[in-house]
Amino acid sequence: MLEVKGITVRYSGLPVLREVSIKVDEGRTVGVVGANGAGKSTLLKAIMGSVKVTSGEINFQGQRIDKLATEQIVRRGIIYVPEGRRLFGPLSVEENLLLGAFTVEREADKQKNLDYVYEMFPRLAERRTQAVGSMSGGEQQMAAIGRGLMSTPKLLMLDEPSLGLAPLLVSEVFETVRRLQEEGDTTVLMVEQNVLEALELSDWAYILQTGEIRSQGPAQEVLASDEVRKAFLGM
Ligand SMILES: Nc1ncnc2c1ncn2[C@@H]1O[C@H](COP(=O)(O)OP(=O)(O)O)[C@@H](O)[C@H]1O
Ligand SMILES: [Mg+2]
Repeated sequence: MLEVKGITVRYSGLPVLREVSIKVDEGRTVGVVGANGAGKSTLLKAIMGSVKVTSGEINFQGQRIDKLATEQIVRRGIIYVPEGRRLFGPLSVEENLLLGAFTVEREADKQKNLDYVYEMFPRLAERRTQAVGSMSGGEQQMAAIGRGLMSTPKLLMLDEPSLGLAPLLVSEVFETVRRLQEEGDTTVLMVEQNVLEALELSDWAYILQTGEIRSQGPAQEVLASDEVRKAFLGM
């Protein structure tokens, strides 16, 4: 479904991604893990067209997208849930969710998507009128993912959904990602520093280190590898 082929991204001349290649097949959850500063957010921004790719190409559903504007990429069905969530705090949960439906034209479809999000995240349904800024970090992350789902994306990209959350909430957020995959059949590309929990629910994993893909494989194998156990899990 998504194929990133040897992309290089530079910030003021310095490469922060070097010939990075990844693939995401339909219906799968792919995890890209790496330390702070490895280039994870830059990779997702490159796919979204919000940073310029200096070489390589990006294909989505068989078509090249790396020269398109972000809005066109969104309209093709790729949604980016940014690090730090970026919700509108004073607005209610439902108002925030509806902002995610800006590409949906028919009111009936908006309602259908809203019903789907509330079914996936019952907690959001209970709190639909609450100001999003007054909710817990985990609930806000669910609202951010829910907002992304409001446009029925073909590919949902999550940037460190566990960032800044207490351990219990981290598990809860990852559990919702698992449900999206199992019940909703959503294709997910997730970047994370939380290697253990992210890889536990991914099908395929890539390790990104200082802008380069160091290794890849079935997530369970990568998780069990010496490289990951030493570098990320301190074993
Ligand atoms: N807008 C920018 N201008 C210059 N350097 C940047 C910019 N954004 C990120 N960087 C640098 O690029 C590298 C990768 O950043 P980022 O993709 O945010 O990493 P990660 O998400 O893995 O923490 C880091 O060294 C970071 O300091
Ligand atoms: Mg980041």
